[in-house]
Amino acid sequence: MTDPLLTIAAALNWGQKQLTHSDSPALDVRVLLCFALEKPDSYLYTWPDRAIEPQQQAVFVDLVARRAQGEPVAHIVCQREFWSLPLMVNSSTLIPRPDTEVLVEQALMLASDHPMLRQAGVLDLGSGTGAIALALASEWPHVRVTGVDVKPEAVELAQCNSNNLKLGNAQFKQGSWFDPVAGQKFALIVSNPPYIDADDHHLTEGDVRFEPLSALVAKEKGLADLAFIATQATEYLLANAWLIMEHGFAQGEAVRNLLTQNGYCDVNTVKDYGGNDRITLGKWNP
Ligand SMILES: C[S@@+](CC[C@H](N)C(=O)[O-])C[C@H]1O[C@@H](n2cnc3c(N)ncnc32)[C@H](O)[C@@H]1O
Repeated sequence: MTDPLLTIAAALNWGQKQLTHSDSPALDVRVLLCFALEKPDSYLYTWPDRAIEPQQQAVFVDLVARRAQGEPVAHIVCQREFWSLPLMVNSSTLIPRPDTEVLVEQALMLASDHPMLRQAGVLDLGSGTGAIALALASEWPHVRVTGVDVKPEAVELAQCNSNNLKLGNAQFKQGSWFDPVAGQKFALIVSNPPYIDADDHHLTEGDVRFEPLSALVAKEKGLADLAFIATQATEYLLANAWLIMEHGFAQGEAVRNLLTQNGYCDVNTVKDYGGNDRITLGKWNP
């Protein structure tokens, strides 16, 4: 791109042509141009014929080149929206996925009426950016939501997101699964743990290549962390509290079996927005 007075419409058109390997070139290029111009998306719609300053154009060309090399848009702009909350992201953990909002929906639907929700609070295991914990904290301002992640950098990131969003009812702790909350009981436990098999070919494709294996991969065909959480959570759930876990599209039956074998009732799998098995839940009713 050499024209020093390229318009917004022409820049979008040029950018799309560079991103032939992306699944979403039109969206990617809009996000990158907004970032380069420091303007909202509505600006692009309102001023398609406005010329872009050469300096901003150079920034935009650089951003598009990074995306063309495969770098995720969320890493380039250091941000991703989840549950309408702007979250900072980085390479320490997973970029939040839209399908994980199904887990938040289920949590709100099932746990809002638990009589101990305010006193006992909620636990989010493997909290990453804080996406799930912060979505729940924003919907339940009087409920304490605790996120746990094994990676110190992810805990720091989630705490920054919490501070930026002024969600003082969310707190984040570093440690492995239940270690930082030993002896506590919760009115709801949610988790989107690593669940991909180490040999899965998806790990070498697309945006996933830029995310850490520590957020993606689990032993025993991806089921090891789901099994550990299902087994241990019985010690940390109050009566009639739900465990809700995200998993791979082919793991629904295996996770239902895990919950049933561990004594949970009302076990059910919910599909994501693409119609795939994605969330399995069970109620602890000892
Ligand atoms: C699939 S990511 C989910 C991140 C976030 N909850 C979300 O939905 O976007 C899984 C997270 O689990 C964390 N994790 C992996 N092993 C863990 C462990 N033993 N204890 C706690 N967190 C762990 C990873 O660091 C990562 O942030």
